[in-house]
Amino acid sequence: MDPTSRRVALVTGASRGIGAEISRRLVAEGYGITLTARRPAGLESMVADLQSGGAAAHGIPANMADPESITDLVAAHERCFGRLDLLVLSAGAGSDERVIDLTLKAVDLQLSVNLRAQMMLVSALLPLLRATAGAEPHLGARVVGLASITGVAAEPGLSVYGATKAALISFCEAVSTEESTNGVSATAICPGYVATDMTTSIQQRVPADSMVTAADIAEMVVALSRLSAKTVVPTVVMTRAGSELWRA
Ligand SMILES: NC(=O)c1ccc[n+]([C@@H]2O[C@H](COP(=O)([O-])OP(=O)(O)OC[C@H]3O[C@@H](n4cnc5c(N)ncnc54)[C@H](OP(=O)(O)O)[C@@H]3O)[C@@H](O)[C@H]2O)c1
Repeated sequence: MDPTSRRVALVTGASRGIGAEISRRLVAEGYGITLTARRPAGLESMVADLQSGGAAAHGIPANMADPESITDLVAAHERCFGRLDLLVLSAGAGSDERVIDLTLKAVDLQLSVNLRAQMMLVSALLPLLRATAGAEPHLGARVVGLASITGVAAEPGLSVYGATKAALISFCEAVSTEESTNGVSATAICPGYVATDMTTSIQQRVPADSMVTAADIAEMVVALSRLSAKTVVPTVVMTRAGSELWRA
């Protein structure tokens, strides 16, 4: 493929779990990709793995709780690729606390990593997304945010986490209302439990093999990336098989 026409993605939370699976899948689809996560070690090994298979992948460590890191990430991506067809927001943090036990630290961390970072990243990257959509009017450019089914239906113990995800769903809708006529739209994917590090403690009561798979989420991201810019998909709920469709 001509490197100047290669589609390009930026994936946050790309060192592990859902973000790593989406990154592998996008590389297999021929994307050039910027991967980011907080800790350099996990990110470096993921990037080395992708590069050894011939991918145009590079890693930029960035703490989503730190606005300066986000600014640096945006500049580094733009310098490296100069375009952005797909922005995947997968970095996230959760803690299990009843409302009566909430701590300021846990509230601030989830608000900053799950919500403020997503807002600042989309805002800072919109000029690049718009420019890419302008050059590729058929496909446009897309933002995919990893929200959660807890942003659609509340769960005990996940009040703050679910509230950040509900806000992310609303934010993605607002992005599409403002930007879809410029060829840029956003989708919030809302999965039930997925077997990653985030659900290690839950896997004692919900078997890992009954959870939504990261591979299916990656498949959904690729499907969204193939739609024409005429179609906006505000929300995709992906729930576990069983009788309780709206539970995590
Ligand atoms: N697993 C589930 O059941 C589930 C269900 C619904 C939605 N989701 C959402 O899907 C997304 C991915 O979840 P996952 O299960 O893949 O999580 P995970 O396995 O715990 O991986 C989290 C990823 O986010 C990165 N990250 C965490 N805090 C960060 C920070 N402060 N700055 C930058 N990067 C940070 C991690 O990098 P480091 O290792 O460097 O910290 C890692 O790459 C999250 O937004 C989550 O809320 C998950």
